[in-house]
Amino acid sequence: MLPSTAQLRQTGGRELKRIVFDEETIAERVRELGREITAAYPDGDLVVLGLLKGSFIFLSDLVRRIERPLQVDFIVASSYGEGTVSSGNVRLVYDPETELAGKHILLVEDIIDTGKTLNKLVTLLRQRRPRSLEICALLHKHVANYLELEAKIVGLDAPTLFLVGYGLDHAENFRHLPYIASLT
Ligand code: IMP
Ligand code: MG
Repeated sequence: MLPSTAQLRQTGGRELKRIVFDEETIAERVRELGREITAAYPDGDLVVLGLLKGSFIFLSDLVRRIERPLQVDFIVASSYGEGTVSSGNVRLVYDPETELAGKHILLVEDIIDTGKTLNKLVTLLRQRRPRSLEICALLHKHVANYLELEAKIVGLDAPTLFLVGYGLDHAENFRHLPYIASLT
């Protein structure tokens, strides 16, 4: 259910338009992704590397569906500021402390839009000499011109709307919503 208009008026003046992916749809897909990832990594050390902040809810649901040993760490980059258009100005704010050399890295992203954020991160992470590097994105808008590395694991194809909820924000609002909705 969408929060009431009264509640939303307090959310930076932006209102939700409609639910694009509901809780059940997301949960079912996350379960499938967990199985896919479990099967994709039969051996070796796996580091699931969440790109903060957008992936925090997806990552916490996803890792509980992966049935093999793994380590979790985070990477922090920032690209959008308070707008709804990617600036391409990617800033790395936190570097993972986990040793990555020789390990499988699965970089978990909330949504791939222009791909600028991931292109930059893929270049940086390859310098750590991982055994493998793959991307898992909950949502993919399929609009990127060029991707250094196409996502191996994609949850849902997203419309080219600005989406919020389940970790995704607009100016840091709406991340807590259990579903994914579009903004007006
Ligand atoms: P890209 O660099 O254009 O691919 O953008 C990637 C990042 O921008 C994602 O990790 C999100 O944090 C943010 N982003 C892209 N599209 C959306 C959206 O529709 N809603 C909220 N955040 C988005
Ligand atoms: Mg964001």
